[in-house]
Amino acid sequence: IAAEIGEHASFMHKEMFEQPESLRRMLSGRLDHRFATVRLDGLGLDPRDLRSFKRVKAIGCGSAYYIGQLGASLIEDLARIPADAEPASEFRYRNPIIEPDTLYVAVSQSGETADTLFAVQEIQRKGGHVVGLVNVVGSSIARACGGGIYLHAGPEVSVASTKVLTHMGVGFAMLAVLLGRVRDLSHSDGARILAGLERIPDQVREILDREAEIGAVADVVADATSVFFIGRVRGYPVAREGAQKLKEISYLHAEAYPSSELKHGPLALISAEMPTVAIVPDDELVDRNIGALHEVSARQGPLVVVTHEAVEIDVEVARIDVPKNERELDPLLMTVPLQLLAHQVATRLGRDIDRPRNLAKSVTVE
Ligand code: AGP
Repeated sequence: IAAEIGEHASFMHKEMFEQPESLRRMLSGRLDHRFATVRLDGLGLDPRDLRSFKRVKAIGCGSAYYIGQLGASLIEDLARIPADAEPASEFRYRNPIIEPDTLYVAVSQSGETADTLFAVQEIQRKGGHVVGLVNVVGSSIARACGGGIYLHAGPEVSVASTKVLTHMGVGFAMLAVLLGRVRDLSHSDGARILAGLERIPDQVREILDREAEIGAVADVVADATSVFFIGRVRGYPVAREGAQKLKEISYLHAEAYPSSELKHGPLALISAEMPTVAIVPDDELVDRNIGALHEVSARQGPLVVVTHEAVEIDVEVARIDVPKNERELDPLLMTVPLQLLAHQVATRLGRDIDRPRNLAKSVTVE
């Protein structure tokens, strides 16, 4: 195993650092600059099919569900189709109403997660249309779906998923462009997103290069027993995934909240002992997000802020600046420093990163 890890401290670390290359591979040959759209032939859907969907629903478990939520927001932003995400594990037990004009997207790294596979079969049994966003070629979910988008991230060994989640986000962005370009997304906006997608591999590399800087920030978190993650709208799924990554490998209690919900309850928990990691992109919601920082800071809560260089923050924070992309794609990039943060914290706490207690890489039992 040591030989396969090479110079890296863990498989998780190795896989995080594979992202620039694997993302480049994933994008290659799929961007159609002439028509400002993408080529996703594996979906098996022609423009008429693509136009017929009135809703999109992502289903997956754990981190795949959180990225499904991020993907739903990309689809709403770019294609203006109502979209949401639901844990497959809940979906399958609630006798879901399957709508013929909904495009269901089953999201899974392994393609073997029992709850997601069952949900796919249930959708099909009731006449719904489901496609896969899957990494492992020929896996049960990929085969059951028939059509889909392969993520081409290469093997992922670490229980804590990293590179495949970034690939899932890119997969959703491509699906959003495709659905958008048969509707109201203009050529110029399509071209803007394609250019943004092409910048992602290098920008991920820039974030990875700042690992040492993020290590300094990790001390704020590693000394705590409980950590809040907050984000608003596009930033909320990022917060959820950040909390998930931290709890999986560091065993710290981590909880994600929409920033707007703080004052409806969780603010009571903020104190000097409870750090908050806040997602603050440079977008139309920046002032509101800075307002949330004030609320935390006024209660002496330590703050780690994932943001962009241009954002001026007038309270004391440990900041992690990420390179700016298009506002729709920024949230995806903001998940990458949170991978590094979780890894740094778990390392400081001496955890066995590739063998987190009580967890399996893929959950093939119900
Ligand atoms: C991710 O870090 C987790 N280990 C876990 O939530 C995972 O994403 C989930 O079990 C789904 O797995 P899948 O993508 O293989 O279906």
